[in-house]
Amino acid sequence: MRQNIHPMETSEVLERVGYLDLPIDTSLNIEEEIKRIKKEKKAIILGHYYIRPELQDISDFIGDSLGLAQKAEKTDAEIIVFLGVHFMAETAKILNPDKKVLIPDLKAGCSLAESAPADKFAAFKAKYPDHKVISYINCTAEIKALSDVICTSSNAKAIVESFPTEQKLIFAPDKNLGNYLNSLTGRDMVLYDGACMVHEQYSLEKILKIKEEYPDAEFIAHPECEKPVLLVADYIGSTTALLKYTSESKSEKFIVATESGILHQMKKNDPGKTYIPAPSVDSTCGCNDCSFMKLNTLEKLYLCLEHELPEIILSDELIEKSKKPILRMLEISRKLNL
Ligand code: 13P
Ligand code: SF4
Repeated sequence: MRQNIHPMETSEVLERVGYLDLPIDTSLNIEEEIKRIKKEKKAIILGHYYIRPELQDISDFIGDSLGLAQKAEKTDAEIIVFLGVHFMAETAKILNPDKKVLIPDLKAGCSLAESAPADKFAAFKAKYPDHKVISYINCTAEIKALSDVICTSSNAKAIVESFPTEQKLIFAPDKNLGNYLNSLTGRDMVLYDGACMVHEQYSLEKILKIKEEYPDAEFIAHPECEKPVLLVADYIGSTTALLKYTSESKSEKFIVATESGILHQMKKNDPGKTYIPAPSVDSTCGCNDCSFMKLNTLEKLYLCLEHELPEIILSDELIEKSKKPILRMLEISRKLNL
């Protein structure tokens, strides 16, 4: 039996827990119900590669941060349900202020975005008045509003190179990606001191051991990893680039240094190849999983679609200010066919 709940009751629950936690009729086929409600409500489900496999499979579009922002910009769906983390859903809302944007769990944050609170970043930026600001999309709408342009790991190099070499730049909030971009482009961007806890947990020592154990495997890494790890990588790229690489490379084995959700797509694309998650410093922590991404579940997705909650709400002023740098990124990417 489906539950009818009072809206007041619903918002009170959400205030406390950040997601709907209502009983679900156990006789329901949740996946079928999700498909039914989605069609009925003209909703689209956008999912990031790091979410659980069953959620990747039920998404209408699965992609990296750039692909998802591009899809969100173009969709004519009436409701967007975002299976990812808060900053991604926020980006979809900024691009679609008149649409309802939902996220199954409001607590699906991001350690990297959290490493840059707006007041701290504003004080940092104030020290460099003649610098333009490039912000990685993994930041809050408030940080986007303080930026000149946004980038993702797919287009970061092109975004940096869109500025004349004499232009002084700040890169925020990911110091690892910023550091990698400085070495790639020869720039000397000032880096904000932020990082992702998933990508910073890889153990160089253990990676070197595993490389020795599998000499025929290629070691591939996301640029959010720390410099010593990137220095021993055979290939560095965004999630989409890593996926493309494992498909196109002649190698049969890969040691993968990024969130483990990506392995699902790699296995789907090329089931005959072997994918070894890169080892972390603590082998008992399950650190290759982003705990925020994994807050998304089928049950929460069902409740979210059914009750159209939790919803991303942003002020008109914040949408206005944060939209400009996102549109600039999308425009540059369009011109370069990215
Ligand atoms: P991309 O999706 O741009 O590869 O970024 C990975 C990531 O950490 C998303 O949070
Ligand atoms: Fe944020 Fe890292 Fe999780 Fe990506 S993997 S959402 S950067 S905490």
